[in-house]
Amino acid sequence: MTQERYIPSHVAIIMDGNGRWAQERNQMRVSGHRAGLKTVRKIVTYAATLKIKVLTLYAFSSENWKRPANEVSALISLFIYALNREIKSLNKNNVRLNIIGDISRFSEHLQNMIINAQNLTKNNSGLVLNIAANYGGRWDILQSAKKMAMQVATGEITLDEMTEGRFASAMCMSEFPEVDLVIRTGGEYRISNFLLWQIAYSELYFTDTLWPDFNQNLFDEAINVFNTRERRFGGLHNKEHLC
Ligand code: IPE
Ligand code: IPE
Ligand code: MG
Repeated sequence: MTQERYIPSHVAIIMDGNGRWAQERNQMRVSGHRAGLKTVRKIVTYAATLKIKVLTLYAFSSENWKRPANEVSALISLFIYALNREIKSLNKNNVRLNIIGDISRFSEHLQNMIINAQNLTKNNSGLVLNIAANYGGRWDILQSAKKMAMQVATGEITLDEMTEGRFASAMCMSEFPEVDLVIRTGGEYRISNFLLWQIAYSELYFTDTLWPDFNQNLFDEAINVFNTRERRFGGLHNKEHLC
């Protein structure tokens, strides 16, 4: 009898390679981002089918503003388009949508759309879909540090009460299970300022496949590889306890 595979509770994905996918086809980079959006749809649906509890997607980093203005505005327009188009069906499918990142840099219109989308879906009990938009792992740590500093300054807590647990609870996504698996498509072996604090003990999986070509089978493959990993969290292998 084959052992049933374990489905990670929280998967985070660095969706990289849209630009190269378009360039390979002599198309504009933005058409790669459009193709990437189609992959997002498929992967969100599949994650819900697999009963993954939380899926976190890196859509726009705090450093992506460095790109040419036309690409940045195309990415933001695509985000607005996707929010408008998908929110009803996400809600119908019991998905809870949550945006992580510093949204204050977006237009008021987009900020309102984000708030409305989060409110609409906040009581849904199915898949939690976190979209990281203007997100940076360093920004996240800093915003938590600022909250803690304020609590110390106002006397709400003492410096000694600023524990790892308290600090963690001020980080983005503290209400969700820990990130089990990080997948990066597009062939680069780096984190690019995505989750930092939260991936201290996550398993990392890298694939050369460009994001628009990522699919259910490749997602399955990543989960299968995750199942071969032994997570020790600094402890010992189960059997070693017997020695
Ligand atoms: C990832 O694809 C999507 C975003 C960063 C928004 P890229 O646009 O980085 O694609 P490559 O890495 O240039 O191929
Ligand atoms: C990471 O990809 C950001 C997203 C996928 C949103 P980048 O393409 O921005 O990362 P670098 O520049 O290769 O590190
Ligand atoms: Mg890239």
